[in-house]
Amino acid sequence: MRTLFIAVTAAAAIALSPITFAHSDGCEHTELGETMDQVKDNMRALGNAAKSDDFAGAEEAIAVLMTLADEGKAMTPMKASDVSDKESFMSGYVKGMEKFEGLLAEAMTAAKAEDKKALFAALGKMDNLRKSSHRDYKKDC
Ligand code: HEM
Repeated sequence: MRTLFIAVTAAAAIALSPITFAHSDGCEHTELGETMDQVKDNMRALGNAAKSDDFAGAEEAIAVLMTLADEGKAMTPMKASDVSDKESFMSGYVKGMEKFEGLLAEAMTAAKAEDKKALFAALGKMDNLRKSSHRDYKKDC
């Protein structure tokens, strides 16, 4: 019985622990990091689709990105544990993700209209948002 209790407790501890694998660069690999890796892959797919006038492919990538942004919004960046005002940090982070969602909606409208110029304009804004958001919310590690 005691052994069973220990086994169950150990399993629960493993299951409940945050996903933190050490990165070779000293960063932890988090659930948000995993989501961001998928954002990166789908942004690349979106860029390639836009370049080759594959508007249906662009719409598909944007739809996946919308889901990823929505999921990412509910996650907590690593840097949140280093800041003194966690509340304002988190509200800024959520607003950043909402901006990302707004730009994805803009890109979706452009893809549906097969408007390559507008699609690239939205992509450019997303790239700037990525840079500023990483400066503000991504742990420097
Ligand atoms: C085009 C858009 C974006 C791309 C391609 C992108 C890509 C990435 C990549 C590749 C990472 C490293 C993942 C890893 O740990 O292996 C990352 C991390 C991160 N990104 Fe983004 N990102 C984008 C937009 C955003 C936005 C809009 C925000 C916030 C509003 C954001 C917040 C973060 C944070 C906080 C991390 C660190 C992960 C953590 O703390 O757990 N990113 N991103």
